[in-house]
Amino acid sequence: MLDGSQKLMQIFNLGIEISQYRDVDLLLERILTLARQFVNAEAGSIYIKEENWLKFSYTQNDVQQKALPPGKKLVYSTFSIPINHESIAGHAACADEMLNIPDVYDLPADVPYTFNKEYDELSKYTTRSVLTFPLKTSRGGMIGVLQLLNAKNEKNEVVPFDRADEPFVKHFASSAAIAIERAQMTRQMILRVNKMAELRDPKETGAHVNRVASYSVEIYEAWATTRNTPRDEIQKNRDILRMGAMLHDVGKVAISDAILKKPAKLDPQEYAIMKQHTYLGARLFADEYSEFDEAAAIIALNHHERWDGAGYPGHINVQTGAPLPGCEDEEGRPLGKKGEEIPPFGRVVAIADVYDALCSRRAYKEPWSETDVLENLRSEAGKQFDPEMIDAFFSCIDVIRNIAKRYNKP
Ligand code: C2E
Ligand code: SIN
Ligand code: SIN
Ligand code: SIN
Ligand code: FE
Ligand code: FE
Repeated sequence: MLDGSQKLMQIFNLGIEISQYRDVDLLLERILTLARQFVNAEAGSIYIKEENWLKFSYTQNDVQQKALPPGKKLVYSTFSIPINHESIAGHAACADEMLNIPDVYDLPADVPYTFNKEYDELSKYTTRSVLTFPLKTSRGGMIGVLQLLNAKNEKNEVVPFDRADEPFVKHFASSAAIAIERAQMTRQMILRVNKMAELRDPKETGAHVNRVASYSVEIYEAWATTRNTPRDEIQKNRDILRMGAMLHDVGKVAISDAILKKPAKLDPQEYAIMKQHTYLGARLFADEYSEFDEAAAIIALNHHERWDGAGYPGHINVQTGAPLPGCEDEEGRPLGKKGEEIPPFGRVVAIADVYDALCSRRAYKEPWSETDVLENLRSEAGKQFDPEMIDAFFSCIDVIRNIAKRYNKP
């Protein structure tokens, strides 16, 4: 057992750890993992406030997780509940108070909220003890609600949450709220930059880049895991990759509307101009202030290279667009990068981008059926795409489909 000052130190360190995450999805995952570890909770969920609703945004459940094959992720659906006193999470948000409930099936008669048994029925799980607390920043902004389910004791029995943990959890909640608020702002900023770059229906552009970024993270994680990449390296790379992948097409800011929005096939001259969005995007990050800028530059530059070397822009000087010395063909065109010459983040985003493009309606094409899309990806393994990464893609196809649903695939 830890004493009070050790617990305080631990909570302080957790606050520092979560402050390092840039991406909001990955941050929620980390916050829930750490909060659950701290109070030894078997399951938990995070609700994020959207206007007068709490959106069920992320969940973990050890029991359901153990029922899955190793390496598989829990697939869940999102829903929203109104912020009012009728639900446990809603009440915690409205009343701005922590609720430490020993048994949700035995609530006191005088509380305004009820426990919705539907959640247990749907998930075939029995909730008993629940610790629910609002995520509020120090300036008083309500970000959402964190709910921890079923505290376990040393004998692995479900017990009520320890009252002595409440002040620590409160402290953690405020660090978590600040980190989430910052990550939400970062994402909003990236979405705004994309909106400017693409001058398209902002909703669709946002959904497209969110999907491409989330697919990329899943493919990368599955691929890196099979290569025994250390867990903390994967964890760090996921955050950097997700940020960079959201900006893969930012170079389109420099492409004229006439080409960008052409409702038909591009002619060869137009397509040649369109291809410049790769290195034009990379130039925006050329100063490389951080590993995030570096990854964004790598992804913008390499996401249209092909495993077989027939992609673009190839071995070029990013500043001039000219081929690097000794890297041109007989006609003076740059040679494409090939195989592992293409950085892994470029190879990953290539798959995610094409998967999403084929599934989507574009000004110049109808969406393909899923069968056709998957057949295309499979048949391009070793040609357009890194074959190992295509295997990784198929190993997490159920999670990919779930992301598509979440970010409203058209
Ligand atoms: P995007 O629409 O996001 O497409 C990304 C990539 O998905 C494409 O890279 C291509 O590899 C793949 N893709 C998209 N649609 C199809 C398709 O119908 N068939 C196949 N086999 N692959 C497809 P790509 O070709 O280098 O294009 C880069 C970007 O250039 C596209 O991004 C899009 O913004 C633009 N673009 C490409 N072709 C056309 C076109 O014919 N008309 C217009 N208006 N834009 C185009
Ligand atoms: C609620 O807070 O009432 C909804 C979530 C749950 O019951 O687990
Ligand atoms: C194009 O080449 O115009 C882009 C789409 C495709 O690869 O068919
Ligand atoms: C994109 O391709 O980046 C946005 C989707 C669209 O073309 O509408
Ligand atoms: Fe692109
Ligand atoms: Fe794209």
